[in-house]
Amino acid sequence: MSPTATPSAQQGTTRDALPAVTASTRKLSGVTADAAVVGMVQGPDGATVAVEDLPEDSVHALEAAAAALDFTGKASTTLRLPGVEGLEVDQVVLVGLGRPDGDDVTPDTLRRAAGAALRAVSRASTVLVVLPTEEAEHARAVTEGALLGAYRFTAYKSGLASGATTASRDKDAKGKDAKGADGRDGVTELLVHVGARRDKDVRAAVERGQVVAAAVALARDLVNTPPLDLHPATFADRAEQAVRSLPVKVQVLDEKQLARKGYGGILAVGQGSSRPPRLVTLSYSPSRAKGHVALVGKGITFDTGGISLKPPASMPGMKADMSGAAAVLSTVVAAARLGLPVAVTGYLALAENMPGGAAQRPSDVITMYGGRTVEVLNTDAEGRLVMADAIVTALEQSPDAVIDVATLTGAQVVALGSRVSGVMANDDALRSEVVANADVAGEEMWPMPLPAHLRATMDSTVADIANISSKRDAGMLTAGVFLQEFVPTGGEQHVPWAHVDIAGPAFNEGGPFDHVHKGGTGAAVATLVRLLENRSV
Ligand code: BES
Ligand code: MN
Ligand code: ZN
Repeated sequence: MSPTATPSAQQGTTRDALPAVTASTRKLSGVTADAAVVGMVQGPDGATVAVEDLPEDSVHALEAAAAALDFTGKASTTLRLPGVEGLEVDQVVLVGLGRPDGDDVTPDTLRRAAGAALRAVSRASTVLVVLPTEEAEHARAVTEGALLGAYRFTAYKSGLASGATTASRDKDAKGKDAKGADGRDGVTELLVHVGARRDKDVRAAVERGQVVAAAVALARDLVNTPPLDLHPATFADRAEQAVRSLPVKVQVLDEKQLARKGYGGILAVGQGSSRPPRLVTLSYSPSRAKGHVALVGKGITFDTGGISLKPPASMPGMKADMSGAAAVLSTVVAAARLGLPVAVTGYLALAENMPGGAAQRPSDVITMYGGRTVEVLNTDAEGRLVMADAIVTALEQSPDAVIDVATLTGAQVVALGSRVSGVMANDDALRSEVVANADVAGEEMWPMPLPAHLRATMDSTVADIANISSKRDAGMLTAGVFLQEFVPTGGEQHVPWAHVDIAGPAFNEGGPFDHVHKGGTGAAVATLVRLLENRSV
């Protein structure tokens, strides 16, 4: 049996579909659903219903229930109730929108609240969502949040209770197979109440929200897939599958082609694994494109550290070390599905960092794509090696901007925590553009510097540069400065380049919150899609 044919528990091909979404214009009292989600704002006299269109009976009942059970309407808190007078539903989930600033709740508050509410819904297939959607941005945020809250990853759940046989899979209350971690059946349909308005912008926004949520879900699925099943070759297959019906061209370089072309970084990182590396290029180039953005993603399908082996405790989360590549693939998919008039080329630098007998050694010198040499003093600083090869490749197409996304350093988590990504750049405008789009997309990103003096800490006695710093401090920034070495900066050849370190935000090891579940988060997808949308106008 070839090493790539190792049998796994599941092949991971049964994907949980996101719920179908309908923008519902029907009168609320006439809609039948299993559950309703109702937004509540915080006020001096307790929580009050945020949407006017509810029947008066229901408003009274819900506000009375909130008061009786001390539900204040604090943002993203939820309260589950049985059905109430005036609504054809068995269950109501109240969700807090906080105290609105001025007279309007923000799209971000709505996205988070919708997510929290859908996570709180239990045993419902059809869910009516009653949150403020007057403005297109609000409707989009509600759709994104609700879909991402309803996200599930059950491909590896057998549904067998301990000691049970296949004949007696867990059944939920409705007698369906209960595959979820929580023994609940998933939501299959969302009715997003948009009121009697048949506003074209609101409908289009609901559709955009669906495309973005589907892209984020694709990234989450890839991150959550165990590394037994997701290695460079299968990741490349998944990429091909994901763009099959879209106007996106795919090129996959295998290890032989990589060797012929001189991809020293990707090959060196991949050589310790029995499952060889790949470089995937995804090209979306619509006619009438307003510019061209290159996206580069780190795709280490598992990072053991290599010969510079990681301690056991820091290893399980390293299946998420391909989150940058997942984000890039998902963004290209979304751009193509939305038909954005901007050219996008995505590069997935895929390798498995293993300590096999053919692995690179600390002190090896490798020749990168393009000819620079690197002394590899620590094989666990592998991300920058595969990224540099892919960034140099991206530059060959002369894009207007290069944005790379990578779970690059533990230092990012130390500096900014597990929810805020660091954005570094050789270009102030591009760095600000990335951060501003994160803000609109509801992701937390913060600008970080690339101090020039750090370059000298990577001076090597034998090669052009070493892959680690001689100093322990500023690890996130040194990694950025290493990558900058491969990008023409300042002067006539200047190419705007930004580097987003998503080491913490890519994988949620804590409890679920808002629209974010445990495990893969799909970090950076919403931001990158928004950036491309804004470059399209
Ligand atoms: N994939 C890790 C970075 C990482 C750490 C991501 C924690 C997510 C959570 C990366 O390849 C790595 O190991 N970086 C080293 C670099 C060091 C050897 C200079 C690190 O951060 O320790
Ligand atoms: Mn590493
Ligand atoms: Zn890594």
